[in-house]
Amino acid sequence: MATYDILFKNIKTVLPSGIQTLTVGLKDGKIASLNASEDDSATTVIEGAGKHLIPGVIDSQVHFREPGLTHKEDLETGSLAAVCGGVTTFLEMPNTNPSTTTAQAITHKVELAKSKSHTNFGFFMGATGENLDELLKVPNLEGCCGIKIFLGSSTGDLLLYNEEKLLEIFKATNSVIAVHSENEEMLKANKHIQQEAKDVHAHYQWRDVETAYSSTIKIIEIAKKAGRKVHVLHITSKKEIEFLAQNKEHCTVEVTPQHLTLFAPEIYDEIGTYAQMNPPIRTKENTDALWVGLENGTVDVIGSDHAPHTKEEKDQGYPKSPSGMPGVQTMLPVMLDQVNKGRLSLEKCVQLLCENPAKLYGLEKKGRIAEGLDADLTVIELDKSYEVKDEDMKSKVGWTPFRGRTFTGWPHMTIISGKIVAKDGNLVDKEFKGSPIN
Ligand code: DOR
Repeated sequence: MATYDILFKNIKTVLPSGIQTLTVGLKDGKIASLNASEDDSATTVIEGAGKHLIPGVIDSQVHFREPGLTHKEDLETGSLAAVCGGVTTFLEMPNTNPSTTTAQAITHKVELAKSKSHTNFGFFMGATGENLDELLKVPNLEGCCGIKIFLGSSTGDLLLYNEEKLLEIFKATNSVIAVHSENEEMLKANKHIQQEAKDVHAHYQWRDVETAYSSTIKIIEIAKKAGRKVHVLHITSKKEIEFLAQNKEHCTVEVTPQHLTLFAPEIYDEIGTYAQMNPPIRTKENTDALWVGLENGTVDVIGSDHAPHTKEEKDQGYPKSPSGMPGVQTMLPVMLDQVNKGRLSLEKCVQLLCENPAKLYGLEKKGRIAEGLDADLTVIELDKSYEVKDEDMKSKVGWTPFRGRTFTGWPHMTIISGKIVAKDGNLVDKEFKGSPIN
């Protein structure tokens, strides 16, 4: 009779090959057995009835604001929101203050995260056009997942759209390059729309589809010239998704839960500047096209783009209000609700939230349930209905664009390295600290 640390008895398990009811044993931080016996012993036994076991969710786009903007979020509160939402690993963006543009800045974040993070973690290095030497260190840097380029300006001062410099980086590096794709020249030329704005509806008129589309065409051209791929973050429009579908050999594609489920003009009427983000939430015609891209395989990953700003900052009114919304804690329930609505299968949902981000960022021990892999797992209750409330949000900013919506499908337990870290939306292991991805 084998002995495990945790034994899940007869739990519906989402494997790469499909869903099977299994008895799963975890030991020493790893998935030890997928065909354990019900009679095996374990320190903790979890009855599987009514639950599913999925790989731990990997949120490959978050902004946790430390260092420099910690009145909005920090690595402790951001990772707390993550783990309470079923996320076991986050990959964090470089637009902190100062921006993360050197190996030293990555190491500083990694050291902070080792002492504060409730989940596993990785950090992006930002490209400035002047830091190629630093970008070349990315593959060998502990806790560094890739390069981020802001082709259009958003929160922070990272910006690079010079085509020669972009091509140089694309040719010289072989790390994942993730881009925020909006055309800076068009943003500048149309800035009067923002400046003359009467309300937040001007946001998606200023940062319109053409602004995103022309930038996306340009970056695919550069990827083609360099003979490599680019990862285009938070794609928002029908034109882009149809263009990217024709260029899959040169891109991987992310969409966010908010771009899949919220749309203009309604959401701006409902929640005003709390719906403001870059690139913007667009019309339903665009949202519907993102779903087509998700079904036909154009979309590879779903990331939250968790970008917290305080209520006071958002309440300044447009255009003073900053762009971005929190989402790391609600990403999984938003998508499980869509599973229940029949818009995607649970298996596809797991590919987009777990398997594909792990593949893209080379996290070989994560993203799938298989013997020998890391015991980073999320237990979900697919039939639990619960209303989203601001007061349940663990982010420092304490609000969510999904407030008042009832979702069916929630995380029940978040397990990292074989430890139960969160349960039913709350932290249960205060001592546990996550590790860097590599
Ligand atoms: O809306 C956004 N907010 N888009 C971004 O690209 C950055 C983010 C932030 O960091 O606030």
